[in-house]
Amino acid sequence: MDKIVIHGGQELRGTVHVSGAKNAALPLICAALLAPGKHRFSNVPRLRDIDTVEKLLSALGVRITREGDLLEADASNIDNFEAPYDVVRTMRASVLVLGPLLARFGRARVSLPGGCAIGARPIDLHTKGLKAMGAEIDLEEGYLNAKAQQLVGTRIHLDLPTVGGTENLLMAATLAKGETVLENAACEPEIVDLAEALKSMGARIEGAGTGTIRVEGVPELGTLNYRIMPDRIEAGTLMVAAAMTRGDVLLEGMVPEHLEALSAKLREAGADISQENGLTRVRGAGVILPTNVQTSPYPGFPTDMQAQFMALMTLANGASVITENVFENRFMHVCEMQRLGADITIDGKSAIVKGVKKLYGAPVMATDLRASASLVLCGLAAEGTTEVKRIYHLDRGYERLEEKLRALGADIIRVAE
Ligand code: UD1
Repeated sequence: MDKIVIHGGQELRGTVHVSGAKNAALPLICAALLAPGKHRFSNVPRLRDIDTVEKLLSALGVRITREGDLLEADASNIDNFEAPYDVVRTMRASVLVLGPLLARFGRARVSLPGGCAIGARPIDLHTKGLKAMGAEIDLEEGYLNAKAQQLVGTRIHLDLPTVGGTENLLMAATLAKGETVLENAACEPEIVDLAEALKSMGARIEGAGTGTIRVEGVPELGTLNYRIMPDRIEAGTLMVAAAMTRGDVLLEGMVPEHLEALSAKLREAGADISQENGLTRVRGAGVILPTNVQTSPYPGFPTDMQAQFMALMTLANGASVITENVFENRFMHVCEMQRLGADITIDGKSAIVKGVKKLYGAPVMATDLRASASLVLCGLAAEGTTEVKRIYHLDRGYERLEEKLRALGADIIRVAE
């Protein structure tokens, strides 16, 4: 298993390109199931989660080819309707095949994901919405068996603005009979990207990006030819890396509007963020100011940036409170940060982070995707050598992160163990 070895203390400088968004690519590739023919995607990141969705769709009968950042998916001959436990367990986004399969073929068998490192993460709102559209869904040996002659549009009020639930229901509604109204829908940029892609296939959708999405079902959809949006969480992670190392980094290809909540907090922490010739420049301040953060659904501060922002706050000039409102158990990185000398106390869903003068390198263990990124960030700023183990988590969602950081001047390598 590979590990990442960092000798900390370098200020990051230079220009870095932001890759395509994992969380936009996964639902979009599943959306290929909605229509026969060859669907084409560009700006697809090279990630383990993309390999997993490729494997999953191939098992359903989709023929997939990849070259560089291009992915072609021919969904003409689907002959299997099951997302097995082994796949869903490693990547929860696999449940995004449920809506499209049910809408186009009237059947799907999808393993329940079970818990994961950051919380319980049920999918009850996905199934509740599909049942409201007329699907029959039973649980059998850990699998959801879903059937529907024809999904029928209806009004669905989501108890929580779930991202995956909104995506599943949005995809299902495109081929339902009549109008579906999703209320309290998620507003994340990835939802807008998915809706734009579905519209380019012929779907009739209004209101994506707001809390109310209206979908008028159509009998069939055409093929996709779509460029995946830039990854706002990768961009955000690199922005924190610049701030944390007191560096000066230009990010190419990010959409600044997607990162306003993070930018506001980075400015509060003393960083300087500006737009220069279409690039975003982040300059870290000599003194990092303590800054409180609460995670919430978009446009609030993203839970997927909570661990990275905590990494920054470990070196602040005072105490900050970081509150996690989206997932109940997303502080697994705290114990590892403590191994590097961070002073953090957990109190319910808040973490009180008292800034220390220095972090000191040590071996640490990645526990989930974003936690692993936060440990890499700590390593960049720590004195001495940090080894981050179990980086298969990192590879799920960051494309060559260590290469990008090395090009910015970090002393970081990947070592095969
Ligand atoms: C997506 C993102 C993930 C991000 C999360 C929140 C992808 C592939 N993953 O995950 O990176 O951290 O959004 O921004 O895009 N919930 C229920 N019942 C449901 C569904 C969700 O109770 O049926 C709860 C979850 O347990 C959680 C909250 O709602 O507490 C938000 O989850 P959700 O928005 O669904 O996250 P994901 O789509 O799984």
